[in-house]
Amino acid sequence: MRYLTFALAKGRLAKKALALLEQIGITCDEMKSDTRKLIFTNEELKCRFFLAKASDVPTYVEYGAADIGVVGKDTILEEKKNLYEVLDLGFGKCRMIVAGPKEMKDVLEQGGAIRVATKYPNIAKDYFYNHKSQKAEIIKLNGSIELAPLVGLSEVIVDIVETGTTLKDNGLVVLEEICPLSARMVVNRVSMKMENERISQMIKGLRELTK
Ligand code: PRP
Repeated sequence: MRYLTFALAKGRLAKKALALLEQIGITCDEMKSDTRKLIFTNEELKCRFFLAKASDVPTYVEYGAADIGVVGKDTILEEKKNLYEVLDLGFGKCRMIVAGPKEMKDVLEQGGAIRVATKYPNIAKDYFYNHKSQKAEIIKLNGSIELAPLVGLSEVIVDIVETGTTLKDNGLVVLEEICPLSARMVVNRVSMKMENERISQMIKGLRELTK
């Protein structure tokens, strides 16, 4: 039997994904230890696991370096890789939104040209150009996106909102909803065919749990 390799987005999603996999008998005790190792193996199950930066997970899966990935829908939409999205895992729920000072609501509705700061330029372009047909200058940032309208870099932002605390603490509000987000399981297209039995079995087990 060949190894099935899992790429998990580092952080909260990985912890929840491992807890879910454990419930269907896919365990990796080695991963719980305090170590700088990058790859963990369960020899008995012939499974390997590694943690990667979220935005790299779709790349590992597209190229087949990982058979299976667990990553947020935001990253899947942004990275636009060629892979199967097989399951909504039901955790990591949040929303992709347009936010800014409340005065920007009218400007957005009138469809005037605006500047948008975001960590998600593809999602922002798709939303403003294809969905809204609105002129927008998209400015790519790598974090602390809420800063942009506060210091005059942009009028609005496209970002993730979970609890809403970051927006509230910075005097910003949700202006428009783009889409709901959550953690998803993705599978490499070739692996889906070559390892169909093992992968389908796993998806079935997880689907029962996440119903
Ligand atoms: C994310 C997101 C928001 C914040 C939303 O940032 O970009 O800033 O969390 O969460 P809340 O609605 O619960 O306040 P993250 O913490 O990932 O860091 P970043 O600013 O470096 O992107």
